[in-house]
Amino acid sequence: MCGIVGYTGKAQALSPVLEGLRRLEYRGYDSAGIALVVAPGEALWIEKRAGKLANLEQTLGESVPDSHSGIGHTRWATHGGPTDTNAHPHLDNEGKLALIHNGIIENYVDLRSELEARGHIFTSETDTESVVHLLSDARKSHHGDLAAAMREVCAQLRGSFTLLAIHSDEPGRIVGARRNSPLVVGVGNGENFLASDVSAFIAYTKHALELGQDEVVDITSSSIVVTDLAGTVITPREYEISWDASAAERGGFPHFMLKEIYEQPKSIADTLIGRTAGLDPEITAGIDLTGISKVVIIACGTAYHAGLVGKYAIEKWANIAVEVELASEYRYREPAVDSQTLVIPISQSGETMDTLMAMRYARSHGARVFAVCNTNGSTIPRESDAVLYTHAGPEIAVASTKAFTAQLIAMYLIALHLGRVRGVVTKELSDEIGLELAELPSKVEQILETVEPLRALTRQFKDATSMLFLGRHVGYPTALEGALKLKELAYMHAEGFAGGELKHGPIALIDQGTPVIAVMPPAQSALHEKMASNVMEVKARGAVVIAIGDADLPSAAHNIRIPTSHEFLQPVLAVVPLQVIAYEMAIARGNDVDQPRNLAKSVTVE
Ligand code: F6R
Repeated sequence: MCGIVGYTGKAQALSPVLEGLRRLEYRGYDSAGIALVVAPGEALWIEKRAGKLANLEQTLGESVPDSHSGIGHTRWATHGGPTDTNAHPHLDNEGKLALIHNGIIENYVDLRSELEARGHIFTSETDTESVVHLLSDARKSHHGDLAAAMREVCAQLRGSFTLLAIHSDEPGRIVGARRNSPLVVGVGNGENFLASDVSAFIAYTKHALELGQDEVVDITSSSIVVTDLAGTVITPREYEISWDASAAERGGFPHFMLKEIYEQPKSIADTLIGRTAGLDPEITAGIDLTGISKVVIIACGTAYHAGLVGKYAIEKWANIAVEVELASEYRYREPAVDSQTLVIPISQSGETMDTLMAMRYARSHGARVFAVCNTNGSTIPRESDAVLYTHAGPEIAVASTKAFTAQLIAMYLIALHLGRVRGVVTKELSDEIGLELAELPSKVEQILETVEPLRALTRQFKDATSMLFLGRHVGYPTALEGALKLKELAYMHAEGFAGGELKHGPIALIDQGTPVIAVMPPAQSALHEKMASNVMEVKARGAVVIAIGDADLPSAAHNIRIPTSHEFLQPVLAVVPLQVIAYEMAIARGNDVDQPRNLAKSVTVE
């Protein structure tokens, strides 16, 4: 939610700030704005516009002044609608201090009334504006030291935030802070960057610093100082970004989503590499996986669906009870957790607030935490005992695709690992699954090579008002994922059901012509016949059935073939046609594929 970038250095600041915003726009696209320091003591130059970044870019023209430090923001609105006035940056009443913010300031109402009573004039409806006025006062009382002012202000804020501020009296200086919301430092040569994620500055530097909770960072073109809120200097963890700028570009594809769908053979292979015979001891060094009485998987959205598949694999191969919880529900029901509980948070971004909060709850009650994450340097892995990184590379499209299949792989690897630690998985099974896993990249490749007819078929259903997805066993979470993708991208009513559950109510939804996608268990599975019966039930009531499976289903109106795999691994294959259906439907209905309405990637508010 909200993309944040700051630049200070030798270049004209507009260029890296704008470039950063382009790469961060997937985080929020309701409005965008930039503030630049032009000359010491003068009012800052600022431009902001409602709507996508392109609206802002159109207004920039030739008028942008010389500047070597500035900040930019792309917004996902929470407090106040997506208008020019509510867009960030926000200014103090002198127009010399600018602030951008990601997160929510929970005590902004009280702060605002205190500040208004002190004579501050507010112009927006945002929670953020209270902070800029507060910072302005604090800076004066700290004799113009922006970093000291930021530390004082952060201590007064409740909620979650990444904040970046500049002041025209201190050209070349940017001060940032973070609590429960992401902020990374990009270390350049004669230039430095601050951003919500590394993609903002990957074209300039691959050297990054990770910032911890409640830390304040103070950068100029030649210095980086990190402190805690008390002002004690902290040495941040350094790391190298392992992917190139080209990984965050469309690379000839019309949309990031399509590119990411097609990257899956590679992202699956990269996530598997060196791990099928067992997890590297370095990965699990920080966690004791013996003596666990239950596993709790916590995640949101697509990652939650990966967790549901993980439950089947862990229960079967490691013979241990697994609960899968929607992170947003978990902590509020105060579940029983103890030191024998293994919690597995799954998160592409590593910043999802619901998942982070659920994980913190579990940790504070003694649980051991083994995260699955795609983003190095993010908060969830940093606060976990151990982490299994998925190697999907940057996922830019808002709808998750390659991160999902990589999460599935992580689930299988963890299930096998736990099975080995507990001594319950046989060598034969472990070898068999290892071989089957290794074949997945080429099987996904095969699906992608034969996907064109599915795109044409999808367009036939473009005017449908609803689409239902059925599955059994691991096909059930796959059906849920197919329905979620379609909702997000096609803005169409879609629901996933367990095949056996239909007759307990949902079958009433079936009408003449209702499209139903059936994720068929492999032909050799004991559940294949059961699912075939469920298909007959909906067909008898008028449904048009599209079956996805490793054998043709004679009763289906359309069959989409996928290669045969081990039953538990089938979601990795079956989800690919479902992703393509959602993608194609978005195009057929004229929707924005990479930035669907109302959504943002990386949900850093609860
Ligand atoms: C759906 C989607 C979301 C995310 C969810 C969790 O396509 O992308 O449902 O899966 O917001 O995000 P992460 O994995 O970053 O925690």
